Amino acid sequence: MTEHRRIPLPPDGRSLLERAAPEFALAPRPVPPLPPAPFAPTPEPFAAPEAVASDPPRPFAGERHPIDRDKLRAEGFIVPGDPVSALLEEFRLVKRQLVLAAAESRAGIGARNGERILVASAHPGEGKTFCAVNLALAIAAEKDNEVLLVDADFAKPSVLSTLGLPGGPGLMDALADPAVAVEDCVIGTDVPGLYVLPAGQTTHSDTEWLASARTGQVLDRLAAQAPTRLIIFDSPPALAASPAAELALHVGQTLVVVRAEHTAEAALKDALSLLAGCDDVKLLLNGVRFSPTGRRFGSYYGYGG
Ligand SMILES: Nc1ncnc2c1ncn2[C@@H]1O[C@H](COP(=O)(O)OP(=O)(O)OP(=O)(O)O)[C@@H](O)[C@H]1O
Ligand SMILES: [Mg+2]
Repeated sequence: MTEHRRIPLPPDGRSLLERAAPEFALAPRPVPPLPPAPFAPTPEPFAAPEAVASDPPRPFAGERHPIDRDKLRAEGFIVPGDPVSALLEEFRLVKRQLVLAAAESRAGIGARNGERILVASAHPGEGKTFCAVNLALAIAAEKDNEVLLVDADFAKPSVLSTLGLPGGPGLMDALADPAVAVEDCVIGTDVPGLYVLPAGQTTHSDTEWLASARTGQVLDRLAAQAPTRLIIFDSPPALAASPAAELALHVGQTLVVVRAEHTAEAALKDALSLLAGCDDVKLLLNGVRFSPTGRRFGSYYGYGG
């Protein structure tokens, strides 16, 4: 994502990741054209958790809350309803590749659970929440996909405050208490197609709850009966907290945010190995200052695939 304060010309016209790609043995992944239909209409069968076995997954029916557009604008995020910005265009490109991989996954090609996307990084402050929130706003803006943004940074949740939404029970509550149906924790917003799942009450056993057999069942409820829904997880930093590695086991795609001129190669490699439980890991370059006349969208690469 482009640093949107300044845009001086990079020395050789290429992004940091393009320059770094050979060192990481990464190949730029071209964006192929989208298939005609966004998803094959064949959602996976849902296996309800024992405690709510008689309770099939419900549509998201919670109250809809307004998101704080002034706050988003002041902090440099995409603002729903504002004119199309360069930032929105960039996240639309990222979205396109994610949608393609999700469609392949639904059709039985490639990784399972491709509609679940983890936004991770090695360290704090590299832009995970910035990218996860903007990605969700960009997806909602195009209206062809619904999006659920999950705050999965249980120790330091920030999605609700970023969007100006009220607190409430969330994912960790549903993982820790079989009586809680996770879809009842989902918050609606005044942006059509944008839903948010709070992190919930943190526990001393967050990683253990995530590692339990119920996690897959709880997450299945979030995708149930919604073949065009993408689920974006805002992760804690991979090197600072173990939930990131656990979450990687439950998603079909992981975006690893690399902060330009900030993320060290060794840290990135360590993070990638911790997140290797996900079969489809991509790098997302954040904070690069691109040329206004040069290529803007050099920031998205497949990893190891
Ligand atoms: N491309 C960008 N342009 C401008 N500001 C950015 C950009 N990326 C991140 N920021 C800002 O940098 C700060 C840190 O970003 P963010 O909170 O998204 O990091 P994080 O990886 O989620 O950190 P943590 O692990 O602590 O949750 C925030 O104030 C965010 O708004
Ligand atoms: Mg964050």
